[in-house]
Amino acid sequence: MPSRFFVTTPIYYVNDKPHIGHAYCTIAADVLARFHRMNGEETFFLTGTDEHGSKVAQTAEKLGKSPQELCDANALFFKEAWKNLNITYDYFVRTTDSRHENAVGKLLNNLSSANTDDGQKVVYPGEYTGLYCVGCEKFITEKDLVNGLCPEHQKEPERLSEKNYFFRLSSYLKKVEKLILENKLTLLPEERRKETLGLLKQGLDDFSISREKVSWGIPLPFDPKQNAYVWVDALPNYISAIGYADDPEQFKKWWKDAYVVHLIGKDILKFHTIFWPAMLLAVGEKPPDVIFVHGYFTVEGQKMSKTLKNVVDPNFLVNEYGPDATRYLLLTQFPFGQDGDIDQRRLVGKYNSDLANDLGNLVSRVIHMVRTYCKGAIPQPSSYDESDEGLKNEATSCGEAAFGHVKAINLNQSVDEVLRLVRSTNRYVENQAPWNLEKDGNKERLETVLYVGCEVLRIISALFYPVLPNKSLRIRELLGLSGEELNPSLSEAKIWGVLKPGTKVDKPESLFPRIQTRGERRESAKPETAKKEAAAEISFEEFSKIDFRVAEVIEAQKVKGADKLLRLKIDLGAEQREIVAGVAQAYSPDQIVGKKIVVVTNLKPAKIRGIESRAMLLAATDGEILSLVGVDKDVKKGSKIG
Ligand code: MSP
Repeated sequence: MPSRFFVTTPIYYVNDKPHIGHAYCTIAADVLARFHRMNGEETFFLTGTDEHGSKVAQTAEKLGKSPQELCDANALFFKEAWKNLNITYDYFVRTTDSRHENAVGKLLNNLSSANTDDGQKVVYPGEYTGLYCVGCEKFITEKDLVNGLCPEHQKEPERLSEKNYFFRLSSYLKKVEKLILENKLTLLPEERRKETLGLLKQGLDDFSISREKVSWGIPLPFDPKQNAYVWVDALPNYISAIGYADDPEQFKKWWKDAYVVHLIGKDILKFHTIFWPAMLLAVGEKPPDVIFVHGYFTVEGQKMSKTLKNVVDPNFLVNEYGPDATRYLLLTQFPFGQDGDIDQRRLVGKYNSDLANDLGNLVSRVIHMVRTYCKGAIPQPSSYDESDEGLKNEATSCGEAAFGHVKAINLNQSVDEVLRLVRSTNRYVENQAPWNLEKDGNKERLETVLYVGCEVLRIISALFYPVLPNKSLRIRELLGLSGEELNPSLSEAKIWGVLKPGTKVDKPESLFPRIQTRGERRESAKPETAKKEAAAEISFEEFSKIDFRVAEVIEAQKVKGADKLLRLKIDLGAEQREIVAGVAQAYSPDQIVGKKIVVVTNLKPAKIRGIESRAMLLAATDGEILSLVGVDKDVKKGSKIG
């Protein structure tokens, strides 16, 4: 792989505002770009807007604007959304820029003066007749229609017949196939490679590269009455932006001498995996190195569409979760490359579990302990034991694994690697229990454990940086890094011992404040005191004072005059107790007897309806369903939970 990395997103139609489908691909490209930069590769990240075509002209007319005014206004929405998501593109291409228009002109001229291997003109005039859907910006076939309407836009397509120019695609099908088979053009994931090879086998007709009837477009240099067909205008953005027409040096640098990766959605596969490489071959240019085709997602089970009014604006998610979490959540809902679904409840669930609980808590715990036990400075480690070495090895090898997945564009797996390290570190902290080391006055061990914790956090902050750029930088600041040290690199993530003992750490805030679920929100409508209790954070020491045990329910009966309460006898192995629990509406006495449940045994006894309740059982509720907390293996009664 050359050490120059060029990544692109599709250019987005500008007749609409950005939605999370656009954001999805752009975030993925940004993560790739950031990772490759961290690997020391010279990187160029291109995105932009696709601004020509009848649809833009029609929308502009409806709004009483010129097409250019509409494009200018809407391109800004995309730039704004990318700014809010912290997208680090290097160039924003707009197809109405004269630079792009010139490059398309050059490409069209080159195509029209080119011949195929058997001496035929690559571009030739012909008559085109077809059903044209203005919404799709493309001719569609009879078999695509549902009840005579374009299924996408619920509109009857227009029958267009016109003289225009054709690209002799048929002469390039074998060559494109060869590129794919020889892996000179890598198509990912594998099923999209197969799909493309299938299309090539079926055979594809030559396609028309111009339109007479579309006025908002780039005129053909050799026949200005005709405008370039949208895809012939759009695809060359990948080279217009890097100087195809006006900067041969840059073009060589970023096309010929770089590793070129296009990210696209599955709906635009054919144009990218077949039309585009064929056009490049026809003018003697190499194809891109990789085209990665991601899936489509639905929103809460439904296709995102204006008619259903379920189009999600990325800014909405940014307001809800913040930029970092939005990036993380969109990327991790389902594997990149597959179809999936975005669901508000799952977003909140993942936010709370991965970001608030796993990562956020780890950071605040470790830094808090450094502040309270080590005078607020990175401690000096002594000799390492097996557990320290184990975590150190896991941490220093995580970068290789995470970047390995990035190179294969398995973004979810890359995130999972780092999350696994976060979880191992949480386990390490729990097992080492620095609060006990402090209590026992074992300073040497305490400082070693906290040094290991801080170093792993540094590595995590580097490896999470591409997905969580702001919060990762904040973690680095908390660890006392400053200036140049704040910039993470992959090589730094592979070495140990970067943090200097004695460096002051900063005061941590909650990096990812927990988000209340709907059920919790309902709960929090309860009195103010209850709310305070729910929101208060407790330390691990406080938590460990609570004695959770497994108990078996051996007797149960209803409490007279209280339809919510059951009086239970529970067996804790060493003793039996009586408790009163508010579960009668979810469990009958018969249903609950014999269950192994989890109880808190060291709460002060409470008198409920005259009965002394000497423990409290645990149950989960979302406000509607109530479920007892149990154990899923047959552990002994009285077992401690921790
Ligand atoms: N302008 C063309 C691309 C030209 S590239 C030379 C275009 N634009 S688009 O705005 O309609 O779509 C851009 C991208 O958004 C596509 O890759 C498409 O797959 C993606 N998405 C649109 N809706 C989506 C989902 N619901 N889910 C995931 N991605 C989706 O096509």
